[in-house]
Amino acid sequence: MAVRLPFAGLTLAQQLVRFTQRRLSNASAISKGHTCRGDARSFVTSLAKRSQNEEEGESVSSSQLSARRALLSRRRRSLSPLERISGLLPQDALGPDVTQLRDQDQEGPAQVSDVREPGWDDAERSHQSEASEDQGPSDPSPEEGRPQTLPGETLLQFGELLVAEHRRKRQVEFRKMFQLQPAGRLLSNWGVILHDDVVGQAAGRFLKTSRGVSILVRRSSLEDYVLYMKRGPNIAYPKDAATMLVMMDVTEGDRVLESGSGSGAMSLFLSRAVGSRGSVLSVELRDDHHRVAIKNYNRWRASWRLRRGEEWPDNVHFAQADLCSASTLLAGQGFNAAALDLSNPHLALPVVTPRLHPGAVCAVYLANITQVIDLLEGLRCLDLPLLCERIIEVPVRDWLVAAALQKDGAFCSRKSPLPEDERRDGGDAPDEDHEEGTASGSQPAFGSVPYIARPHPQQKGHTAFLVRLRKIAH
Ligand SMILES: C[S@@+](CC[C@H](N)C(=O)[O-])C[C@H]1O[C@@H](n2cnc3c(N)ncnc32)[C@H](O)[C@@H]1O
Repeated sequence: MAVRLPFAGLTLAQQLVRFTQRRLSNASAISKGHTCRGDARSFVTSLAKRSQNEEEGESVSSSQLSARRALLSRRRRSLSPLERISGLLPQDALGPDVTQLRDQDQEGPAQVSDVREPGWDDAERSHQSEASEDQGPSDPSPEEGRPQTLPGETLLQFGELLVAEHRRKRQVEFRKMFQLQPAGRLLSNWGVILHDDVVGQAAGRFLKTSRGVSILVRRSSLEDYVLYMKRGPNIAYPKDAATMLVMMDVTEGDRVLESGSGSGAMSLFLSRAVGSRGSVLSVELRDDHHRVAIKNYNRWRASWRLRRGEEWPDNVHFAQADLCSASTLLAGQGFNAAALDLSNPHLALPVVTPRLHPGAVCAVYLANITQVIDLLEGLRCLDLPLLCERIIEVPVRDWLVAAALQKDGAFCSRKSPLPEDERRDGGDAPDEDHEEGTASGSQPAFGSVPYIARPHPQQKGHTAFLVRLRKIAH
């Protein structure tokens, strides 16, 4: 041990001397302006060697080369320091991949700002979704090869009616219908979206506001449209309008009488139900309501034309008249059904009933039960061939059903009545795959997350009573 220590010390000293000499010689090379030349020379050499090999067809086939180019252009990554140095070297000394990388770098900052390493999308997406908790999912990349629209529909165009929607903590916090217009701005408490950035997008996509919040932008359904369009009087609510269509058994090709036109909501649902082979006569007492109904009808049709590239049927005739004295207007016409949403409908029944085909249904929309009683009392006195078959209300109860989350945003876990070790031994333990999935940090296993499920705290109240009257054949 006493002998070996000095020997070890000597070896160490020799190594230190050699190391210091190397450092000094490198330093002297740097001071003489030979910086990197050794590296550069070996780099050039390897490139030159490869270039020579390529000429000889030894190592890189042209298909491999183009595949590599394609890969490189897809990646669009920035140049490494080594690649930048290659920019200082003669062109003919460079391999094609290095040349291409250098060319990309010279295309300018717009390209460079789009530079992403492979896997960026996923990492960025997960980061964004964490950062924008409850602001909706980030925009998924379009599925390759899949059309971006519903069959028969186009990408979003100026003039279309759209709905913007923001949800937070399972509740809709913001919903707005708007018309896409050049230079328009969608304003909200969550920031601004320029209409120019929406046009040309696929419908039903999350777009970011100026504050980075995700807002769902989708096309307006007919239900959205009637709920958000400018109203004159109150509309027949979609749930009730849909039930009335069922009550009347309206079919494509039918001819239907409607009154009053009001804001035109029911007219639109009827228009869709009877289709291009059918028609609707919509009678409205008030001139202002008559004009509102026509305007709303035409606005929807215009948006439809843009969206589908085809006409919405022009099948509603709006007439301004008092239905109670519209015998002349209705003369000679027969209807498969009638939808009445006006005050004192029993006063209009003597005019309407003769025009209904035998077996046809007259569906009546009434807000108050006392109006239903007036209707029945009117029927009793009028001696019309009408049978009251049904009086209903259409309750729609919204529910909140969602996976339970902890305060930190992680999923809660279902509590087992068995201790953990017993669960592992068998019993109702999740299967191996699921346990693996949970342990590896992926989504919790199926069935392992508890749900909250209860009626939504905000419910729509009463809207209407619907009465089905059927014309009896003699
Ligand atoms: C509640 S609104 C109808 C709303 C319509 N169903 C909708 O979905 O937009 C009732 C309408 O009936 C009209 N009205 C009332 N009495 C009428 C009558 N005798 N003849 C025609 N229209 C009448 C009113 O002017 C009013 O516009």
